[in-house]
Amino acid sequence: MRTISIVNQKGGCGKTTTTVNLAGALAADGFSVLVVDMDPQAHASLALGINPDELDENLYEVLVEPAGATALSRIILNVSHGVDLAPAGIVLSALEQKLAAEHQEARTERLSRALDSLKPDYDFILIDCPPAVSLLTFNALRASQEVIVPLETSSFAVDGVQKLLETISLLMDRVGHSLSVRVLPTLYDGRTRYARETLGEIRELFRDLCFDSVVRLNVKIREAAQNGKPISLYAPKANGALDYAALAMEVSLGGPQVVASTTADNAESSNPEKREVVVEYRDSDAGDVRIAGDFNDWVPDRNVLSRVEAEGRTRVWVKVLSLPPGTYQYRYFVDGQWRVDPANQNSSAGPMGQTNSVLHVR
Ligand SMILES: Nc1ncnc2c1ncn2[C@@H]1O[C@H](COP(=O)(O)OP(=O)(O)OP(=O)(O)O)[C@@H](O)[C@H]1O
Ligand SMILES: [Mg+2]
Repeated sequence: MRTISIVNQKGGCGKTTTTVNLAGALAADGFSVLVVDMDPQAHASLALGINPDELDENLYEVLVEPAGATALSRIILNVSHGVDLAPAGIVLSALEQKLAAEHQEARTERLSRALDSLKPDYDFILIDCPPAVSLLTFNALRASQEVIVPLETSSFAVDGVQKLLETISLLMDRVGHSLSVRVLPTLYDGRTRYARETLGEIRELFRDLCFDSVVRLNVKIREAAQNGKPISLYAPKANGALDYAALAMEVSLGGPQVVASTTADNAESSNPEKREVVVEYRDSDAGDVRIAGDFNDWVPDRNVLSRVEAEGRTRVWVKVLSLPPGTYQYRYFVDGQWRVDPANQNSSAGPMGQTNSVLHVR
């Protein structure tokens, strides 16, 4: 079971659309999916054909008391083939006030407890978050191992991205475990130069944290939501359906954890001359740390075994390289920015004039 939150504090960037239509596309591929609507606006519930005003109970009852966790299976509705829904309601907006007096830990783990109590084993749980960094979003992140951040390609500012990354690393600190974060360009209108440039900028900044899939602007997406169906059922041939099918493929192929490359394993076993080299990067603010150098053609984390450990509030990214003896240049790629290794005094100027860290393997 993989639990993925769809998060961005910016409104209208395609969170709900992505939750509902990725769910539909995964279900079309034969996966069982639960959509958890954590937004009091209940747009995901509406887009799946459920009118929240007609329900007696919703996630509020599940989250408001510790004992409510067991009510989750009671409120879940089957909304289309392969897709179940834990619906929201406007009353969810009262949760923050209601739980204000409780201990932070207890307040933020309500959803994760409730999901633990679930009997049916879903392949995917997708959580639609409100456009705010609120208690509801914290609950979603506590329950998740993965995050998808939809980014609108029509109004994009580098400032916004930095803020987003800061927010995510802050959230990661608070949720107490690592999250694998990927960004999804949405609302893409390839006819405008601005959108094309913006997409290029997003890809440049996020590199392989950015999905290859891009969701194009497509009126059928809006129509599908108005008709209460995922686009895979409403208009399966529309561009919107194709884009979310491509995303579903990428999501289902990519596991939640940071790369554990099989090529590195193979190379090691077939070449006993290689040495295992372990390097570590410590940081309490970073969200995603990869390593790249002349040993992997500067492709971040290619042929690298990677894991994240916690030392109090500091996270330690441990990178295991399998290298023949020699001298190598490398840098870390931290939240989309290149950094020299702060723990390594050895450095030299790279071909473009930048400073690289240097590693000697004997
Ligand atoms: N690819 C698309 N093509 C056309 N319309 C889209 C597309 N993606 C989203 N929309 C429309 O844009 C609007 C905003 O999308 P959506 O509700 O998914 O954003 P959101 O991030 O969930 O917003 P909020 O922050 O308010 O929850 C909706 O009306 C939706 O139907
Ligand atoms: Mg929404």
